[in-house]
Amino acid sequence: MLLGQSETLTEKDFVSYGKTQKDFIIRKGVGKNMGYKELKFEKDSVFLVTGAAGFIGSNLCEALTDLGYQVRALDDLSTGREENVKMFMDRPNYTFIKGDIKDLDTCMKACEGVHYVMHQAAWGSVPRSIEMPLFYEQNNIMGTLNMMEAARQNGVKKFVYASSSSVYGDHPVLPKKEGQEGNLLSPYALTKRTNEEYGKLYKSLYHLDTYGLRYFNVFGRRQDPNGAYAAVLPKFIKQLLDGEVPTINGDGKQSRDFTYIDNVIEANFKACLAPGDAAGQAFNIAYGGREYLIDIYYDLCKALGKQVEPHFGPDRAGDIKHSNADISKAKALLGYNPEYDFEQGIALAIDWYKENL
Ligand SMILES: NC(=O)c1ccc[n+]([C@@H]2O[C@H](COP(=O)([O-])OP(=O)(O)OC[C@H]3O[C@@H](n4cnc5c(N)ncnc54)[C@H](O)[C@@H]3O)[C@@H](O)[C@H]2O)c1
Repeated sequence: MLLGQSETLTEKDFVSYGKTQKDFIIRKGVGKNMGYKELKFEKDSVFLVTGAAGFIGSNLCEALTDLGYQVRALDDLSTGREENVKMFMDRPNYTFIKGDIKDLDTCMKACEGVHYVMHQAAWGSVPRSIEMPLFYEQNNIMGTLNMMEAARQNGVKKFVYASSSSVYGDHPVLPKKEGQEGNLLSPYALTKRTNEEYGKLYKSLYHLDTYGLRYFNVFGRRQDPNGAYAAVLPKFIKQLLDGEVPTINGDGKQSRDFTYIDNVIEANFKACLAPGDAAGQAFNIAYGGREYLIDIYYDLCKALGKQVEPHFGPDRAGDIKHSNADISKAKALLGYNPEYDFEQGIALAIDWYKENL
């Protein structure tokens, strides 16, 4: 079920972010639901994508190289997959650096001559962060600070980085809106909130244009279905295809704003093209819908032709019951206008997994 996210913004939405609707329409062509492929950067733009061997990073590399831009890809392959790098190695506009963002020299070299950074490298997973908080501090906070510093010293134009809906913590209000954050529930969430604070500071102190993208449960092609910390959608799809019985944590009545990967690519592109006065802030990046896990489970069964009753396990520590986004800030300030709703996205994702698993 999708909760009504209005298709067009009202004048009130624009004024609340200090813009007039007219001003914005002229600048970004809002309302046209323009996909990322229509967006244009200068011809010889150089992009650095960190976390390039991961799910979101590899999709950004693919989109950028398809469009002919120069891409430098950085990853230490700690959780990413070599296949996500090998598949681009024969593209002349793709260069891979195997390196660790915990090392400032690596970040400095990677940022040389770069115009735009799309920083995705981090360790994900709320439960894993609860098991190893020290590593998350070093990897996700120090690593991101190294990247921001390297971007600043190299005169990078725009620094767009992955934040997360987890920064909302236990704040009860739905939909989640920037400025209404509660107590954090995991070290992972703390790393993302700290990144956002540095993002704000790097804009105000050093004039680096930073844009934090608070992703809400991204899904789609190349998301890893394997391992204890895999995301729920690819995990269920793989288990059902393999004839296994999936386990739902909790009662399945939790809801999420599942966001198709192409909407996230669009958000990264649009943040790179956003004006400097929108920088130093964080933005919800989602579709603006609300899906219940139990409904999705049965929809997946139907789509895959399976009749399997799930197991139910305990709730996961650090999880919240409901999470869906108000995306009006990203619409107003970045011109974000997601093309794919959940149904369209999940149909594409299922096709991809059927062919590729
Ligand atoms: N997928 C989601 O639903 C989601 C939701 C919210 C936020 N995010 C954030 O988006 C970003 C990308 O997520 P993803 O789903 O593609 O994750 P992913 O695990 O598939 O990719 C992350 C990549 O970062 C690399 N990496 C980790 N630490 C590194 C280091 N020290 N140096 C170099 N590379 C390193 C990993 O090897 C991996 O390839 C992450 O920052 C994540 O926290 C993702």
